[in-house]
Amino acid sequence: MNPLDDSRYLCRLGVNVDHVATIRQNRGTIYPDPVASAMAAESAGAHQITVHLREDRRHIQERDVDILRKTVQTRLNLEMAATPEMIRIACRIKPDQATLVPERRQELTTEGGLNVAGRISNFRSAVRRLAGSGITVSMFIEADRRQIEASAQTGAYAVELHTGRYASARGRRESVREFDHVGGAARDARASGLRVFAGHGLHYQNTRPVAEIPEIEELNIGHSVVARAMFVGFETAVKEMLEQLRRHPTPQTPAPFPPTYKAG
Ligand code: PXP
Repeated sequence: MNPLDDSRYLCRLGVNVDHVATIRQNRGTIYPDPVASAMAAESAGAHQITVHLREDRRHIQERDVDILRKTVQTRLNLEMAATPEMIRIACRIKPDQATLVPERRQELTTEGGLNVAGRISNFRSAVRRLAGSGITVSMFIEADRRQIEASAQTGAYAVELHTGRYASARGRRESVREFDHVGGAARDARASGLRVFAGHGLHYQNTRPVAEIPEIEELNIGHSVVARAMFVGFETAVKEMLEQLRRHPTPQTPAPFPPTYKAG
């Protein structure tokens, strides 16, 4: 199965295995191994493995990315800051895709998208260097027209829309508003010639409506899958997420919107 063209699903699933490495790094052990979880994700049907090599190396290590480059059979997506060090590493390892993300050392996770609009020429040269090494480049941005237009000017192939605000919205009104921002941004990005991906904060109850946005071709999901894997195992956790993305052969009732949350 070509991971770029799997018509069974509304979009591709990239599984982010950072938090397997978080558990390892917390105790300075050699287990659990994110490489083993990447293999499990692929045998469950994931279309891509995503890792974030942070400047502070708090979870994924450079060695993990080296091994993943040799072992991943689908596609390897490296999330990274657009710094000279990271660009050097990416050009050496050559992931299939690089997703440029903002990084702040104090943050718990990637909070907010890139400010591309403020630094178009810097990003343009980062994109040029990565693309020159054969790497597809995606920009992780908020669902914001200014950032979309700026991303298009960098020569990037795609944008990944940050779904964190949608995921953390409380109540119907806020949820609908944030979902509409994501849908509108997806259309704007596609109209600007960019391919459209999304991710952050997606879980088993809120992913389906995002997957149904027609412009969205790829979702990158980590924390919820790793958390679910503790109870059902990694392969089952990935299969359950893939079920959320499955294209139904006959018209079905659309996913409930806003997503319903079960108590407990
Ligand atoms: N996409 C990007 C660009 C990210 O930085 C992250 C978090 O590492 C994710 C997707 C996955 O987010 P989550 O772990 O909340 O599913």
